Amino acid sequence: MITTTGLTKVYQSRGREVTALDDVDLQVREGEVFGVIGQSGAGKSSLIRCVNLLERPTSGTVTVDGRDLTALAGRGLRAGKELREARSRIGMVFQHFNLLSSRTVQDNVELPLEILKVSGAERSRKALELLDLVGLADKARAYPGQLSGGQKQRVGIARALAGDPKVLLSDEATSALDPETTRSILTLLRELNRALGLTVLLITHEMDVVKTVCDSAALMKKGKVVESGTVSELLATPGSELARELFPVGGHASGPDRTVLDVTFHGETATQPVISQLSRTYNIDISILGAAMDTVGGRQIGRMRIELPGPYEENVVPVGFLREQGLQIDVVDDNPSAAAADGPALAEEAAE
Ligand SMILES: Nc1ncnc2c1ncn2[C@@H]1O[C@H](COP(=O)(O)OP(=O)(O)O)[C@@H](O)[C@H]1O
Ligand SMILES: [Mg+2]
Repeated sequence: MITTTGLTKVYQSRGREVTALDDVDLQVREGEVFGVIGQSGAGKSSLIRCVNLLERPTSGTVTVDGRDLTALAGRGLRAGKELREARSRIGMVFQHFNLLSSRTVQDNVELPLEILKVSGAERSRKALELLDLVGLADKARAYPGQLSGGQKQRVGIARALAGDPKVLLSDEATSALDPETTRSILTLLRELNRALGLTVLLITHEMDVVKTVCDSAALMKKGKVVESGTVSELLATPGSELARELFPVGGHASGPDRTVLDVTFHGETATQPVISQLSRTYNIDISILGAAMDTVGGRQIGRMRIELPGPYEENVVPVGFLREQGLQIDVVDDNPSAAAADGPALAEEAAE
């Protein structure tokens, strides 16, 4: 539904060049909720602004719903007719709502329809239908100043849906909201995604958001996408940083010369017997340093951090045993002295 190839954005800022996007290839499938995660300055907002051509990319292409937007003329507010039309099919939700305070809730939702020159009666029918959809049917005549943050964002979402978009872009839409409101807005986005078949590309810096609503996710760093995939693919990728952040398990080695492993298992895998089997088969004592269970993308996932006696070289066989049971094993580099020498290389080798 959304594809970027070689997307690059270089800003000129006071004589300096800032590369905000560096050769980004992204694939967002139709009907999925796709989360982009990354620290401040990673290029997330630039990505969204390039996807709807509010910013013209320095190079690369953006295709939305089969249409190469980069081939259409104009930019920003001076976009050509074709680009404006294409863009009206891409809804945008902002962190600070961007509502007009002098207009009623209904008139805010009608705004994009006015721009699309939809007739008055049709505009108001559509606006009321959308307000009903976001649970604000009774607020049509209120002004933004009379609404809570969560309600304002619902208006923002209704407005974003006015042009019947196939794609909704959301740049930190919940960052200004408290956790409970955040959850209700996310649930709404998820419901809209399901009910309207809407493809959602959302930017967030909260891992919880990804865990709750996203089918897929990408991690951005310094203008590059360094990891991306469905959440379950990521969780099944050894060494995935996103998986680790989605699923933090604590616990440190109890001393030197220990092997610390993160064991990831999906709902159906029974870990408990596997761990005790391991212990019996190799006659080793296994300590559990930390564990977490959670629902990710509607699936039960668990992660456990365990410790085996002895350095990794002595545990190659037990680790192999665990992998053979279908568990995903990440060797945790928790030993400062080993890490300095050959720790990372071993961890990589172990990951293969
Ligand atoms: N209009 C702009 N002019 C110059 N530099 C910009 C502009 N917008 C963003 N940048 C720079 O591009 C980089 C990425 O910014 P941004 O896309 O806003 O990241 P994020 O949304 O992940 O915080 C940052 O270094 C930022 O300072
Ligand atoms: Mg940003």
